[in-house]
Amino acid sequence: MKKMIMMAAAGMLLSSTMAIAADAPAKAATCNACHGADFKTSLMPIYPKLAGQNKEYLVSAITAYKAGERTGTNAGMMTPMVSSLTDAEIEELVTYIAGLPVQ
Ligand code: HEC
Repeated sequence: MKKMIMMAAAGMLLSSTMAIAADAPAKAATCNACHGADFKTSLMPIYPKLAGQNKEYLVSAITAYKAGERTGTNAGMMTPMVSSLTDAEIEELVTYIAGLPVQ
């Protein structure tokens, strides 16, 4: 099951890369595979909508996943996604995501 989700995510990554807005940070392409091209049209209900979320909260969540401090059924999916991000890349990503329209 986990393998199927990862394969689906990889396929989505290819198709969603084209839909990314011109001003999106390069690292956003990885996130789009699960969180949707607009960060709110997720493909599966287990992928949270992130568009318009508070910057501080996004930093806190991403930092916790990176440190392995957020655990649980689906949290394991996020850790490898953010483990190699630098603080500057996280800042760039959250600024972009927080500025996206909620509706
Ligand atoms: C393989 C699919 C997948 C990819 C790719 C992915 N995520 Fe996630 N993301 C998830 C899942 C699943 C959760 C919910 C995990 C949980 O239950 O803790 C999540 C949760 C989150 C949360 C927490 C939201 C909240 O309300 O607490 C943030 C922030 C987040 N992701 C950001 C990102 C960013 C930024 C990227 C790109 C660098 C990314 N994600 C890439 C699947 C993914």
